[in-house]
Amino acid sequence: MDIINVSNLIRLIVVVLTLLTGSRSLAGASLPYPTVDTAIGEYLHEGEQQHAQAIGDIVEQQIRARYGDGLIKRDAHPKAHGCPVAEFRVARDIPLDLQSGVFVPGAVYESTVRFSNGSADAEQADEKGDTRGMAIKLRGVQGSKLTDVQAQADAQDFLLISHPVFFVNDAADYAEFFAISASGDWRRWLKLPFVLGLRGSYNAFQMLRSHIDNPLAARYWSVVPYQLGEGEARQAVKYSVKPCQGSTFDNETDSDDPNFLRAAMAAALASSSSCMAFMVQRKPGPDYSIENVVERWPENSAPFETVAELHFSAQTFDSAEQLMRCEEMVFNPWHGLLAHKPLGAVNRIRKVVYDRIRRVRESSF
Ligand code: HEM
Repeated sequence: MDIINVSNLIRLIVVVLTLLTGSRSLAGASLPYPTVDTAIGEYLHEGEQQHAQAIGDIVEQQIRARYGDGLIKRDAHPKAHGCPVAEFRVARDIPLDLQSGVFVPGAVYESTVRFSNGSADAEQADEKGDTRGMAIKLRGVQGSKLTDVQAQADAQDFLLISHPVFFVNDAADYAEFFAISASGDWRRWLKLPFVLGLRGSYNAFQMLRSHIDNPLAARYWSVVPYQLGEGEARQAVKYSVKPCQGSTFDNETDSDDPNFLRAAMAAALASSSSCMAFMVQRKPGPDYSIENVVERWPENSAPFETVAELHFSAQTFDSAEQLMRCEEMVFNPWHGLLAHKPLGAVNRIRKVVYDRIRRVRESSF
């Protein structure tokens, strides 16, 4: 069977499964679309909300087709290395203009951190290049919530990946990227570099090349901006996390083990604690757009400042029961405080898509 027939066969299977499962689509009960804060620099892209729904439709169809009647996993980042717990200790000496939301000097929050691979293939070996994920959930958080996002009333989530920039800015381009990727038609895939442009294609290529030895030893970025503070005092910031100064790791990895990242993290936490610094970067100035997430904010003019540390005590996190609880966790940049409101089109689209995927996943638990 040649490659064209194989791709047609895959498309046919997806179409049939979509028709069979279409009546179960959870598109209907979606949350209100986020409002745009023009004063901080956000603007609505043409047809953005429709593009967000279209992406949600594709992602839902894909995971229903992939997992059928079984346990439905995340579309992105389905492979977890584990969910160790940590204390999120806010520094006592953070600058006044960063003291907002959860960044209350001296505050300590219980947290759970899910480390993952980005690939949609939940079985992909860790040795393959991939974007790595770090999703942090703080508990016991006080303050005005981004109210319409489901439950988790006392949580603040921070989502980061192992690359500082994204591969697309524009909602229409992103929807087209999804439609082409899901088509299974390699001839349409040839169009992708034109949809993403030079910068986006380069970023996508780099994102898929990331290799790490241990999830606790990598650096992560929020990529997209977030509000910090409320009212007149609000500003736009990005986050990054890296190992605390002086952290050391045994870099021996067994690359024959497809799950060596879990093994490396389990070995590191078996008898020792570990620490990661949580940093904030202010938007460098008016020349940098909230809606441009394919370019970095320069660190020389806008350095990242440490506002908290994640302390992982020695622990076991990889029993079958712990891994199942890790699978069932739900992270969403819109879980949290108004003082940390997600900004920009990519984040607004995520509100639609993540909530849809959560409901699809939870229907299979
Ligand atoms: C519109 C753009 C994006 C879409 C459509 C998207 C899609 C998704 C989906 C469907 C999931 C699974 C969610 C779930 O299980 O409930 C996910 C998870 C994740 N995404 Fe995104 N994503 C986008 C942008 C980003 C960006 C910019 C980052 C950068 C930090 C990111 C980081 C993550 C991480 C770390 C996870 C794993 C969360 C976990 O451990 O459960 N995503 N994404």
